[in-house]
Amino acid sequence: MERPIGIFDSGIGGLTVLKEIINAMPGEDTIYLGDTARVPYGTKSAETVTKYSFENARFLLKFNIKLLVVACNTASAYCLPQLKKALQIPVVGVIEPGAKKAVEITKTKRVGVIGTEGTIKSGAYFDAIKSIDSSIAVFTQPCPLFVPLAEEGWTNNQMAHLTAQTYLNDIKKNWIDTLILGCTHYPLLKEVITEVMGNKTMLIDSGHETAAEVFRCLAEKNLIKIISSKESSHRFFVTDSPDRFKQVGSRFMGASLRNIELVNLENL
Ligand code: DGL
Repeated sequence: MERPIGIFDSGIGGLTVLKEIINAMPGEDTIYLGDTARVPYGTKSAETVTKYSFENARFLLKFNIKLLVVACNTASAYCLPQLKKALQIPVVGVIEPGAKKAVEITKTKRVGVIGTEGTIKSGAYFDAIKSIDSSIAVFTQPCPLFVPLAEEGWTNNQMAHLTAQTYLNDIKKNWIDTLILGCTHYPLLKEVITEVMGNKTMLIDSGHETAAEVFRCLAEKNLIKIISSKESSHRFFVTDSPDRFKQVGSRFMGASLRNIELVNLENL
């Protein structure tokens, strides 16, 4: 199936999810939209994030995408069911795959979740875990400062360490054995999070689990691209500051970014 996979995020962070998707399915074509003009979503209301998410989805649908990935945890937390209901194509969010994995691997049945204010407030991870296994104890903690730290590239310095210690101290006291990184930016802080939590705590990268879910979904619906000799194509759209996206995004992707175009969603 030659149609691309569409992915949106509030900005740069979703590139950690895209990276996992490309690693898992190198032959697939992708179109990424980063809503850099309206980032962050993590501190905004459910209504606003839902409105933005529908605009993002509408934009990506113009490219005849075969599946939509909502890479933003906050958007997945607030409006995944609505998007799934409204769209005619499969929609995959980042919450359920991370929650499923946590349930699968926890031995102590004590799971922690960290994310943006919005993601934690929504209770989406809590509900997703409890709906699979209600006997699991879930402890949550918003870590909003991790987002600017990751974008600044301060992922393993004193600031990052102190911030991680301050945020994670309480959750650590609950003897969790599994911690879900419920925000696009947090995989960049894995090292410092491990330093604080200790290496017995298993970290779950929601993006990684989501890529596996996207593969399962495409396979089930017979939508996997027949690999041709043609190289896969990856296009990027942003609603503001393509230069910053290119610069910071390359760090998130671990590769330099090309084909970045500026788009105005209001004119659609
Ligand atoms: N992408 C967002 C998320 O995963 C983090 C950045 C933001 O607040 O918009 O929730």
